[in-house]
Amino acid sequence: MKVWELGEQKGVGSLRMADRPDPKPGPGQAVVAMKAASLNRRDVGVTQATYGGAKPATRIPLSDGAGDVIAVGDGVTNVKVGDRVTATHFTPWQDGAFDPAFFASDLGITVDGWLTEKALVPAGCLIPIPAPLTYADAAALPVAAVTAWAVIVEFGCIKSGDTVLTLGTGGVSSFALQIAKMNGARAAITSSSDDKLKKCRELGADIAVNYKSRPDWDKAVREQNGGRGVDIVVETAGFATLGQSLASCAPNARVGMIGALAGRPEGQPAMFPLVGQNLTLKGITSGSRRMFGDLMRAMVATNTRPIVDKTFSFADAPKAYQHMVDSEFLGKILITT
Ligand SMILES: NC(=O)c1ccc[n+]([C@@H]2O[C@H](COP(=O)([O-])OP(=O)(O)OC[C@H]3O[C@@H](n4cnc5c(N)ncnc54)[C@H](OP(=O)(O)O)[C@@H]3O)[C@@H](O)[C@H]2O)c1
Repeated sequence: MKVWELGEQKGVGSLRMADRPDPKPGPGQAVVAMKAASLNRRDVGVTQATYGGAKPATRIPLSDGAGDVIAVGDGVTNVKVGDRVTATHFTPWQDGAFDPAFFASDLGITVDGWLTEKALVPAGCLIPIPAPLTYADAAALPVAAVTAWAVIVEFGCIKSGDTVLTLGTGGVSSFALQIAKMNGARAAITSSSDDKLKKCRELGADIAVNYKSRPDWDKAVREQNGGRGVDIVVETAGFATLGQSLASCAPNARVGMIGALAGRPEGQPAMFPLVGQNLTLKGITSGSRRMFGDLMRAMVATNTRPIVDKTFSFADAPKAYQHMVDSEFLGKILITT
């Protein structure tokens, strides 16, 4: 079978295609014929050895994928040959609280991932894909959508009529917008591009602010929200924008800190609203298999499908990575076989 490996990790150009024998499942394992996979921001860092340091050159990248089960090992009962499946990227996280031990089995990071014709995975991480979601729909979800769901639904306890703010228009933020609308909330989104903001409005965003032309975007969000702050923030940009995110909040809002897109902060974020507005700030590290199931059920019920920017072939995988590096996309970047 063909696989992509990380190689020397000096950038996207280090990715290399290799031939390997077809995998055979051991006890508790399954082999999945990959039909679709998707990229997340951290996958770019992995090609540069900047996400948790250098990995073995033979590591197969990508945390998100979907396909058909083609073989199962002894003791596997939750899936069978022929099932359409996707998987949680933290393979042991079934339900309950986060455990840092999950990082030891993180698909595409600490163990081989989805950028292969046939993925060998612990069967316990696999989840059947409900009709009518496609392989591509499901492959878009594991990292970005499950994390957005963990912030907005699990931690944020979203209610109809809330306002959800998310920063930028990448994978996580596009799902944050959709999850807000699925739950009867208002969606506020920021971007460096007026064109992307226009598309976000077409996709249902109620509030759209250009964070370049409005460096005081926290004030602009309030202006477009009738003077009121937001109830939930999906903080994708990180500590550099945290002060403005807190300033955007209504009393009692919940802020899920998940990212670092804006780099390291200069000085300390202004944290005063945390106390004065009775806010809750929490770090969120993705979500469980149970949350993933809840997300897919909600997508089916609300007829929601991922916002896909562009799809590349397996042979063109490095072009998909370059498309992410170029940052001209909105939503998810997919690779299909
Ligand atoms: N903790 C977790 O479990 C978890 C899970 C998933 C992702 N993350 C993190 O969440 C972040 C987003 O991930 P992703 O995969 O959605 O990334 P992505 O798809 O690559 O999103 C990139 C977009 O972010 C926006 N952006 C960049 N700098 C920004 C800034 N200073 N302020 C506001 N927006 C900015 C840009 O939007 P515009 O082009 O519209 O300006 C850019 O196109 C990353 O830091 C990632 O590592 C964390």
